[in-house]
Parts: sequence; structure tokens; C-alpha cells
Amino acid sequence: MADQANDSRRTLVAGNWKMHHDHLQAIRTVQELGLRLDPVDLKRVEVAVLPPFTDLRSVQTVLEDRSIPVVLGAQHCHDRDSGAFTGEVAAPMLARLGVRYVLAGHSERRLLFGQDDAQVGAALRAVLRHGMVPVLCVGETAEEREAGRTEERLSDQVAAAVQGLAEEQVAGMVVAYEPVWAIGTGATATAADAQAACAHVRGRLAAAASGDAAASARILYGGSVNAENTAELVGGPDVDGVLVGGASLEAASLAGIVAAAATVRPAARR
Ligand code: PGA
Repeated sequence: MADQANDSRRTLVAGNWKMHHDHLQAIRTVQELGLRLDPVDLKRVEVAVLPPFTDLRSVQTVLEDRSIPVVLGAQHCHDRDSGAFTGEVAAPMLARLGVRYVLAGHSERRLLFGQDDAQVGAALRAVLRHGMVPVLCVGETAEEREAGRTEERLSDQVAAAVQGLAEEQVAGMVVAYEPVWAIGTGATATAADAQAACAHVRGRLAAAASGDAAASARILYGGSVNAENTAELVGGPDVDGVLVGGASLEAASLAGIVAAAATVRPAARR
């Protein structure tokens, strides 16, 4: 499907900080990132950081004040715009902070906090409703993989989340293929497996929306990504970037991943 791709598929490197870095550490990290990123690489690669909620305002201010070309993201949101939902954060609150990307259905939310497909789909729609870009996270567990059910699991997760979306909504979204067994474990999918899974996801987007929409959507790989394995992973024609956890916490490491991703031509222009 890669040959149908168009220019919308600029490589994306997104750093998911999870529950790491208070706002002071976050400020220091993005300041250092601003110094380390090479402007030439940023012509090919878009960089986003997804800090904890308490850091968003501080990071937004630093990025703006210093004109650091890094985009702001968030890790989760509730599907309702306001209400009695203690501990939750609403999509319009994130939009007001200049957030562009919001994860929907990260495996840690699904497995540790019981988020189901229906909640993921509703949160994804809230993100779209407020003009931001959802990053739908999908991926199989080790047991599902061993049982040969990887594609089935990915199909189910994608279909549940994108069912009924307009073609242009699918075209503008990001999906992150993150095998659960590879997250935070040091075990990375092979580049061939990552490519096969991302191609499968793209096929499901095509089935749910259209071939054109699927060819415009960006599909990332995530799971123990680092500067050493990035170029090979992003080399897959259906792999449009990486979602990085642990290796995104230090500016030097994240900048190394961006530099590695920039050595690969985006699929759209291959
Ligand atoms: P990891 O996390 O890079 O630490 O494996 C990836 C993720 O959970 O998004």
C-alpha cells in the first residue's frame, strides 16, 4: 500500500514520558532537546513529546517562548468534555494548551486501568471533536502472539476504534502498533514483523474507511525503540515513525532517535 502514500506521511517521532519527569525536569529536558535537535533533520521528521498532565503548561510555555520546533502531546483523555469524573482530564482542556497529539488506548491504560475498546473509541472521538490528532495504540500480548492471533487482535482493536469515522478523520489520524510484549522490556519486534503488522493495520484502515484514507494515515511502531534500532524499523514502507517510551526521557537519547529516523526517507517520498 505504500506506493499510494502521499505527503501527509511525514515521519513522526513521539516521546511518551509516561509517569516520569515533574514539570522542572520536563522544562530542562525540552530546553536541552531544543539545543540538540538538528534543523535539517526536522525537515523530514516531526518531533512530539507527551509529558504527564502536570507538565503540559510548563512545556507549552518553553516550546513557545524559545520557538523550539517540538509538538506537544498528551497521554490520555476522558471522552466527556466536562463533568463529575474525579481524576480525569477532558479533551478541550488539552486543546486549550496547544496539545496536538493525544494517545488513545495505550496498552498500559487498557491493561492496568481497564480501558476497553468502547472507551478507547469514545476518547478518540473526543480528541477529534476538539481538533486534535488521536494516536490510537494497538498491539497484541505475548499470549495472543504465541496463539497466532496477532492480526486478529489488531483487526479487532482498529475496527472497534475507527468504525463510523469519516474518511478524512481516518486520513488524519495516527495509529501506533505497540506489541505489549515489547513495551519496556528491551525486546523489540524485528523490522520485518513491525512492517507486517503496520501493513496489516493500514489494510484494516482501508477496509473501515478507504484506500486513500489509509494511505494518508500515519502508522508508528512502538516497543523498546532506541537510537540503534530506529532506522531499521522506520525503513519499513508502512512504518511512518516511532512511539518511544524509556528512550525518550533523556534529550540526548531522543535527539539520537530523531537523527536516526531522519536518515530514512519518509515512505511518502520513497
Ligand atoms: P518503551 O515504551 O519504548 O519504553 O518500550 C513504548 C510505549 O509504551 O509507548
